[in-house]
Amino acid sequence: MPVISVPQEFNEDELYVDLLAVVGHSLFLKCEGFNFAGSIKLKAASEMVEAAERDGLLRPGSILVESSSGNLGVALSMIAASRGYGFRCVTDPRCNLATRRLMEALGAEVHTVTEPHPEGGFLQARIDHVRALCASDPRCVWLDQYANPSNWKAHHRTTAPAIARQFPALDVLFVGAGTTGTLMGCARFFRERHPAVRIVAVDTVGSVSFGGPAGQRMIPGLGMAVRPHFLDESYVDDVVLVEERDTIRTCHALARRGFLFGGSTGTVVSGATTWLERHGARDLTAVAIAPDLGERYLDTVYQTNWLRDLYGEDVLGSDEPLDVPRAA
Ligand SMILES: Cc1ncc(COP(=O)(O)O)c(C=O)c1O
Repeated sequence: MPVISVPQEFNEDELYVDLLAVVGHSLFLKCEGFNFAGSIKLKAASEMVEAAERDGLLRPGSILVESSSGNLGVALSMIAASRGYGFRCVTDPRCNLATRRLMEALGAEVHTVTEPHPEGGFLQARIDHVRALCASDPRCVWLDQYANPSNWKAHHRTTAPAIARQFPALDVLFVGAGTTGTLMGCARFFRERHPAVRIVAVDTVGSVSFGGPAGQRMIPGLGMAVRPHFLDESYVDDVVLVEERDTIRTCHALARRGFLFGGSTGTVVSGATTWLERHGARDLTAVAIAPDLGERYLDTVYQTNWLRDLYGEDVLGSDEPLDVPRAA
């Protein structure tokens, strides 16, 4: 029986969903949403805060400042509350309302930038705002998830070894790419300890991370408007890019089975399914990582008007009109 006294002490690291019935291929989905921050970003947040405390960067009275599309912001809000720091989260309009409210409920101050930077998009606009906040108050400490090695080290130390323990015969691992902390932590671990495991990165069309052209992306978590600092493609065996429409369809296919996952999980599962089909890989042992759960996306990915406005009437397919509830 786990008994904890601070919220960051608990994380379920050993839960997988067998997706064979949903995607038609053997695929195990590692669920990272079962902790008090509700996402995989708890790991990066804890590791970065602990390192900053060890290095004497964070002291009583410090105020954490971070740019986040949401989940890291929630994790840092929680840790800051638990450890007595202030927290200012800089986000943009794509951050879900529920996520913003969650951060505020945990005591964070949320700053939303409204105008994208002309070349670097919302990400650069957020970073510019973080720099301005740090320049205006010496108590501010920017952990910088985009360049802080504790981000990828968290996954090298925890996520990847947890997968290797459960799947000693793993053939292929699918990992979504945002900052690429999860991807690079896992990829480095497997290259060092189990080099036969293929690492497949999954990203969103419109992300520039793997060299594609920038384009509109509305689902937070995956994709970058500038090349990720950690990314070293020599550790990545393959890349799959997924259209947001396919992300939406996959999220809804999972929801119809009772599994309500976040947007980026739809992307990762869609990309994994495409890759497994393309490689005729029926008998491979395959794992994909689900970064969070679906409640935070009720006003976006699971909301009819939002879907219609952004992706058109037929995003869920003509056999399932958005405004007609499915029969029980
Ligand atoms: C929902 C979700 N999925 C995926 C990711 C990407 O993880 P990483 O930054 O480790 O690449 C994030 C990061 O914030 C996220 O919030």
